[in-house]
Amino acid sequence: MSGRYLVTGGAGFVGSHLVLALLRAGASVTVLDDLTTGHEAAVPEGARLLRGSVADAGTVERAFADGPYEAVFHFASLTLVGESMREPVRYMAENFAGAATLVQACVTHGVNRVVISSTANLFAEPERMPIDEDEAVIPGSPYGESKAMLERLLYWADRIHGVRGACLRYFNAAGADPEGEAGEDHRPETHLIPIVLDAAAGRRDPLTVFGDDYPTPDGTCIRDYIHVADLAAAHLAVLEPLRSRSVRYNLGTGKGHSVREVIAASEQVTGLKVPYTIGKRREGDPAVLVAASRRITDELGWRPRYADLATIVGHAWAWRQAHPKGYG
Ligand code: UFG
Repeated sequence: MSGRYLVTGGAGFVGSHLVLALLRAGASVTVLDDLTTGHEAAVPEGARLLRGSVADAGTVERAFADGPYEAVFHFASLTLVGESMREPVRYMAENFAGAATLVQACVTHGVNRVVISSTANLFAEPERMPIDEDEAVIPGSPYGESKAMLERLLYWADRIHGVRGACLRYFNAAGADPEGEAGEDHRPETHLIPIVLDAAAGRRDPLTVFGDDYPTPDGTCIRDYIHVADLAAAHLAVLEPLRSRSVRYNLGTGKGHSVREVIAASEQVTGLKVPYTIGKRREGDPAVLVAASRRITDELGWRPRYADLATIVGHAWAWRQAHPKGYG
């Protein structure tokens, strides 16, 4: 793989794993990240880091001066569903402003392949489970709405400017680099697997399970945990079709796991008990979210390499054990 790629949000969880994948494939990478939630230490060695906001046109111009780029990957955004329920305007305004500035720069500089991080939160009222790409987009939060707006932005950028867009709807991104060079470190951490592992290791308070009265076999919510390295691989896989057309794919393993199953997998991997209590439901949590990823498998041959939950938890545990303070 040759040429240079721009990765916004390349200091974040999924973004940093994509940067690793690009570098390992032989590409050159510029990262644009304002480091408000990302970590400088998460930017893999060999990538160039430009610190600044993707919503600032001057900063984005400076990033494009580092090109020309083969393609742009856009991760930089606000990402917390719960926070977006308290700050809807900020979520929609900031996420849209960043993407709009970036896509405008792509048009100006003739970069006609853009990949954006989208989300399972587009599907608040799925008619079918697992959820495929024909499911109606009914966002579950202002965060999900902001991603729906980005998908529409890409639609019009394609139709009018010929900028091809890939909308990749991640289900529950999890795990860590199988070679141990990157991992998950959100501050504050709100995601189930890192919380479970840190609770098991005694690095934080016991886990609160958000509700055990859902209409699922064991009463806890079911999610489709997808390995972050598999997400990174999907980003590389869409580059070829983007030469001629826009695409959108739901990315998961097709298999759901309950919160109790995640706890059991963690206990099996670590050999440690996970201390937990049962709490109230968290507002906005759907009972079940599982992806149907047949379309990307059929069209591009992508399928998850690390679909097994114990493998996902095992990689997350290995990185966390090697980096108990995360990125420091
Ligand atoms: N959970 C707990 N206790 C915790 C944290 C989580 O019981 O302390 C439960 C949640 O209720 C949920 C499951 O564990 O049932 C997974 O929760 P996460 O917070 O890890 O993930 P979400 O499914 O809420 O959200 C994730 C991403 C979002 C994205 C969404 C798409 O974090 O960005 O998937 O469905 F929008």
